[in-house]
Amino acid sequence: MADEAKLVCVTGGSGCIGSWLVRLLLERGYTVHATVQNLKDETETKHLQALEGAETRLRLFQIDLLDYDSLVSAISGCSGVFHLASPCIVDQVHDPEKELLDPAIKGTTNVLRAAKTVGVKRVVVTSSTSAITPSPSWPADKVKNEDCWTDVDYCKHNGLWYSLSKTLAEKAAWDIAQEEGLDVVVVNPGTVMGPVIPPRLNASMLMLVRLLQGGTETYEDIFMGCSHFKDVARAHILVYENKSATGRHLCVEAISHYGDFVAKVAELYPEYSVPKLPRDTQPGLLRVKDGGKKLMELGMEFIPMEQIIRDAVESLKSEGFIS
Ligand SMILES: NC(=O)c1ccc[n+]([C@@H]2O[C@H](COP(=O)([O-])OP(=O)(O)OC[C@H]3O[C@@H](n4cnc5c(N)ncnc54)[C@H](OP(=O)(O)O)[C@@H]3O)[C@@H](O)[C@H]2O)c1
Repeated sequence: MADEAKLVCVTGGSGCIGSWLVRLLLERGYTVHATVQNLKDETETKHLQALEGAETRLRLFQIDLLDYDSLVSAISGCSGVFHLASPCIVDQVHDPEKELLDPAIKGTTNVLRAAKTVGVKRVVVTSSTSAITPSPSWPADKVKNEDCWTDVDYCKHNGLWYSLSKTLAEKAAWDIAQEEGLDVVVVNPGTVMGPVIPPRLNASMLMLVRLLQGGTETYEDIFMGCSHFKDVARAHILVYENKSATGRHLCVEAISHYGDFVAKVAELYPEYSVPKLPRDTQPGLLRVKDGGKKLMELGMEFIPMEQIIRDAVESLKSEGFIS
């Protein structure tokens, strides 16, 4: 890869997935512009500055997703952009527009327009399985894949604001890609877990903490399978570097029910108060091993669920998030 293609921007670099992506990009010799919301907050910066290669090849930028100029500064000079920054909140919110929809949708629009303006070659957008399901009218005998889209009206009626934010943000990304002739590829991860790099947990690791403490929520409209932080970061790099990669890429080790995941956590960690849940927690979801088929065709080998759980729980223990 030519040198200029090795300068890339990671929005949301401070987050749990973003930090893993910055780590792998630095390991692969990239120079990275990573964005944070507050440069003065060490919980957003210190773990990134401690990464190998960071001293010479990492630059941090303070951005606000609603401030177009802050994005232009972070992206200037870059050949590639990985757009991860987006609020990831699955609990109830008071003001969905302000807390989730605006930063996700307007933020994506701003990042892509800024990327076009500064001449970026390829943008990788982090969407989610939340832009694939819930999709109640999808045929019951057909496996959900990249052709399947979350039902926007169902989300509005049921207050699924995070799913709505990811779906409308991804749709906005595809619209801009077409209007502007911008090269965009999308990764749709499931519930992402593993070893945590930042000192703060994201929503999916918090979900695991609650489960270990006996939480009985089944995430009926949200869960579709899990993925390892490292695999999600790898998937981003794979679709960035592989010019034949196009469209959406479902990134889950397998399509599975939350009940399967919970049963495995209980088996591996009987010392915690993991509840017994029904195995079919996502009505109508067909389980398959090769949900991430498109990524596998690009060379991806997914870390299996058992290892994802072990890596995540051991990290929670060693970092003091659980005792
Ligand atoms: N976790 C999952 O299971 C999962 C699954 C599928 C997709 N995703 C997607 O993956 C991406 C990263 O999520 P994550 O799990 O790594 O969560 P995270 O740790 O909470 O990271 C979110 C990142 O977005 C940044 N951000 C949020 N709102 C922002 C705003 N208004 N302006 C600028 N930056 C903002 C945060 O910055 P600060 O650190 O400065 O607050 C942080 O870097 C998100 O797009 C999320 O929707 C996550």
